[in-house]
Amino acid sequence: MAFEKKILCIGAGYVGGPTMAVIAQKCPQYQVTVVDIDPVRIAEWNSDDLPIYEPGLSEIVKEVRGRNLFFKTDIGEGIRESDIIFVSVNTPTKDYGLGAGKAADLQYWEQTARQIFEFSESPKIIVEKSTVPVKTAQAMERILRSESNNTRFDVLSNPEFLSEGTAINDLQNPDRVLIGSMETESGLKARDTLVELYANWVPRERILTTNIWSSELSKLAANAFLAQRVSSINSISALCEKTDADITEVASAIGMDNRIGSKFLNASVGFGGSCFKKDIMNLVYLCRYYGLDEVADYWEHVVRINQYQQERFIFRILNAMFNTLSGKRICLLGFAFKANTGDTRESPAILIAKKLVEENAAVVISDPEALKNARADLKDVSGQIDYIKDPYEAVRGCHAIAVTTEWDLYRNLDFERIYQDMAKPAFVFDGRNILNHPKLFEIGFNVFPIGKPAMTHF
Ligand code: UDX
Ligand code: UDX
Repeated sequence: MAFEKKILCIGAGYVGGPTMAVIAQKCPQYQVTVVDIDPVRIAEWNSDDLPIYEPGLSEIVKEVRGRNLFFKTDIGEGIRESDIIFVSVNTPTKDYGLGAGKAADLQYWEQTARQIFEFSESPKIIVEKSTVPVKTAQAMERILRSESNNTRFDVLSNPEFLSEGTAINDLQNPDRVLIGSMETESGLKARDTLVELYANWVPRERILTTNIWSSELSKLAANAFLAQRVSSINSISALCEKTDADITEVASAIGMDNRIGSKFLNASVGFGGSCFKKDIMNLVYLCRYYGLDEVADYWEHVVRINQYQQERFIFRILNAMFNTLSGKRICLLGFAFKANTGDTRESPAILIAKKLVEENAAVVISDPEALKNARADLKDVSGQIDYIKDPYEAVRGCHAIAVTTEWDLYRNLDFERIYQDMAKPAFVFDGRNILNHPKLFEIGFNVFPIGKPAMTHF
């Protein structure tokens, strides 16, 4: 069968892989090819053991791989053949030179733009999927419009709002699809082509079109607002721990106000993930660049509170356990930055594990999906760290448990059994407030939730 359109995605990561799988599923009339500079990643996408864990993903990949979804390593051929090119290569925070720690490192983006320029022989629509600083599209257009190539390129911004762990549902039923374009005749035509692609499964009223700068900025702003909510509730959790207020009660009370809404108000050990910190720092950099220091300071504080929340958690463990962790065994239940993913990028558990090791504690890390990434994150840490998937095995002989990821599995553990197997006095630090605290206390644990009074037997 001849395909109506050929779509290419450069970058087979957490964004590119699931997004293309869903496009291929919803648009059997299009050929969808995903390429990556990393041949190992491509081989994994072609195997039964996909490189990322995401509920529902492997079923879709099985359904469409070889039908109209292909994972390949030949980037040049992919570019030559395609009509639409999605770019979802990573844009980490720069760790060198000007803007280090804040600005986005666009070297992969630029390299990709140059490859597109080099291999293109026919007009292309280039879609920015990676989160990029505002005005990146302009730089792209400049690279692509160099004189030695007469090929027509239109650059669109189409940021991804999927959330890991629910990526497939987010892609299949998005709140909105945002498409930003240049307001020129060919820019608007390219925009309509992309609208038509999404209209295969997304209701038209949810496909929002804007100018390209609004689209790029909206992605940064959306993540900044979400992260700000987490830092807001976490800042109040610190105050709850000093008073007799309970953060869960406060969150429900404020969340019942329709204007505020109840979602994203779970106090926690802090937010992680590849996007929140990176995108806020990007926003901060942009504001400073334009001389908007007050605005930059405002957003920078969202990240500072997040750091503070993690440090507070560690301090609480140390303080509760008589100010010494030396020789004590502490189990981290969960290492992923959130439940239902194996992703550990910016996970608060990384800092917590490192600090506990610095205190000479023996750390045990347990997680149903993230142990491989945890090992890589902590490979340079010298100290005692064990990786044990089974939670009952992991907690055996421990002095304390710290819940760092809200996996459902941890809610339903047999804590009577766990208590029997632990050293006494036994402590639980619930960094996600997912456990039944009064019941744990009754069993004999000393319980330290987030944003609630501690329950101790001393
Ligand atoms: C990435 C960006 O980090 C994020 O800002 C954006 O919103 C979406 O794309 P993610 O998919 O999570 O997020 O990144 P990652 O899982 O690291 O995948 C990027 C892939 O691009 C990697 O597999 C990498 O090998 C590949 N890549 C990178 C290329 O194919 N070419 C390059 O030049 C650089
Ligand atoms: C986020 C955005 O939600 C998504 O739209 C964007 O495309 C990418 O960044 P993601 O990082 O996958 O998605 O996860 P998200 O569910 O937003 O959680 C981010 C972090 O905040 C996690 O560490 C999570 O545990 C934490 N969080 C979230 C809280 O601590 N409390 C909450 O109430 C919600």
